[in-house]
Amino acid sequence: MSEKTENVSSQIFSESARAKINLYLHVTGKRADGYHLLDSLAVFAEACDELLYEPGDEELRLELTGRFGAPLGQDAAGQNNLVMKAAAMVQAAAGGAAKVPGGRLVLRKELPVASGIGGGSADAAAALRLLSRAWQVEPDSEALSLMAEKLGADVPVCLDSRAARMEGIGEKLSDAPALPPSCGILLVNCGVAVSTPEIFRRRDGHFVPRADLPDAWPDAQSLAGFLSLQSNSLQDAACLVCPPVRDVLNVLADIPDNLLVRMSGSGATCFAIFPDDATARQAAYSLSRNRPEWWVWGGGFC
Ligand code: C5P
Repeated sequence: MSEKTENVSSQIFSESARAKINLYLHVTGKRADGYHLLDSLAVFAEACDELLYEPGDEELRLELTGRFGAPLGQDAAGQNNLVMKAAAMVQAAAGGAAKVPGGRLVLRKELPVASGIGGGSADAAAALRLLSRAWQVEPDSEALSLMAEKLGADVPVCLDSRAARMEGIGEKLSDAPALPPSCGILLVNCGVAVSTPEIFRRRDGHFVPRADLPDAWPDAQSLAGFLSLQSNSLQDAACLVCPPVRDVLNVLADIPDNLLVRMSGSGATCFAIFPDDATARQAAYSLSRNRPEWWVWGGGFC
């Protein structure tokens, strides 16, 4: 084992993988390969999965734990898992698996799976960050972005996990306008996994123009006012494929003080915007008592 490896072998490394919310999502066109062109504003909540890495001599392996990880079982922790695919890319950047330690990755999944808040993409991005740090591979940001892009359209935005405008198929990132100093979000998932390719297939064929973004939103009301003029092009298709999405949207719309209600990504997770994070947390508390079968989270975003 190299000296470099010995230095890291006693440490445990960790990264959080935050939930990504598409505040609006316009399908603006379609590429020849079938991928859709998007314009979307993505923000990140503190709700997250957690990825731990304990270096060791044995071949790298992944364990899944947490509310949504344990039920998936070890079948989901093989080489097809996006975290393991990300690990293989960082190994390759280091010159091969033999050049870096193996060990144990533990993914504590607290975000619902296949739910439109980028859990799998955030896990993959966390693996790229975590293992390049632990193995001291340090690819430049362009190389890291390329790896992310190969892992999925939503992975690049999850590398930085802060508000950004997504274009292209999701990989073209630019700065988001300044977000309001005070604003809260409530996330709700009804527990039905939704297939992204199916939702894209089932959406109506309309294309929606790119949004005209301001420089900043001074308060939550102005953000919500702007968002009310935008849409999620995948929401109607998701309501058809997964009718409980409509129920969640209706329940969110009835919560006092909400400023806007919408679905994120290809669903099924929906969100409501509130004037501040304390109001969103209070709404989450009440809703989780009334609907214990739903996954509910409230707080701030960035
Ligand atoms: O890139 P990712 O693997 O996350 O995409 C999953 C699927 O979602 C793609 O295979 C494609 O069917 C659909 N998709 C799309 N346009 C995008 C992103 C995803 O059609 N911009």
